[in-house]
Amino acid sequence: MTMTRAYRTAITTHIDGKPYVYGYDLTKLAGEASFAKSIYLIVKGEMPDKNAEAMFEAILTIAIDHGVEPASVVAARNIYSGGSPVQAAVAGGILAFGEYHGGAIEGAMETFKTYCPPAGLGVKKLVEDFSKAGKRVLGFGHRIYEVDPRTQRLIELARKYGFYGKYVKFTKEVEEELAKGGKKLPLNIDGIIAVLLLEMDFNPKVGKGIFIIARVPGLVAHVVEEALREKPVRRLSEEDVEYDGPRPRK
Ligand SMILES: CC(C)(COP(=O)(O)OP(=O)(O)OC[C@H]1O[C@@H](n2cnc3c(N)ncnc32)[C@H](O)[C@@H]1OP(=O)(O)O)[C@@H](O)C(=O)NCCC(=O)NCCS
Repeated sequence: MTMTRAYRTAITTHIDGKPYVYGYDLTKLAGEASFAKSIYLIVKGEMPDKNAEAMFEAILTIAIDHGVEPASVVAARNIYSGGSPVQAAVAGGILAFGEYHGGAIEGAMETFKTYCPPAGLGVKKLVEDFSKAGKRVLGFGHRIYEVDPRTQRLIELARKYGFYGKYVKFTKEVEEELAKGGKKLPLNIDGIIAVLLLEMDFNPKVGKGIFIIARVPGLVAHVVEEALREKPVRRLSEEDVEYDGPRPRK
């Protein structure tokens, strides 16, 4: 008779008193495998080869931080400044990863899979469908960049490590097609990560998690800097705020 247990997992177990991750002795991974390699293993269930490890490592590194300005960092630092603990502030920063900031990778992967030829519907159909639906194409556009230097660097490394494949070429065509609308919408950090995860055969479901994994060190650094250098309770000044509500009334 088969027993039904509360949880099923293929990730980690103990054998003879030692932890094993996907069959690899965790005590040996420490000292032998890089952190990036171990992350690849635990989210994909298999070890990367040298090129995949180098590509994955570059993805994690390039997404580690992007300044104090993004919504997630402002959120994290403000939460800490109110007196909440580090874990609450970092979690608050993660909660700001949405469709417009850091949270577009999963959706972009699904979109690229649906439209990338030869199996997919093609560039023109993608742009047409999104425009008809009044939706933004995930993975394109940036508030401060016309060309995202992080994307350029990852594309350069994709050539070097053998991941310059059909998805990279496809998104270049999407970029060109979108530009015909009059506004330059560069492939952004979420977009290029989505592309490269597809080239590396990751499931789209890992997309959001990869950005979280990469950016949490940055959030931690900002929260710790807030703790060590700033006084409690951030507050906007009156000059920062434009009141356009009613005047006093009876
Ligand atoms: C990232 C993003 C928020 C930056 O926005 P922005 O440069 O400040 O641009 P705005 O929000 O001011 O939009 C300007 C115009 O470009 C359009 N636009 C912006 N990004 C677009 C996209 N990816 N696809 C289609 N149209 C887009 C907007 O609809 C808007 O059109 P309108 O003027 O006709 O209303 C935006 O490009 C976006 O939403 N991208 C898709 C989501 C994404 O990839 N998020 C991850 C970011 S790392």
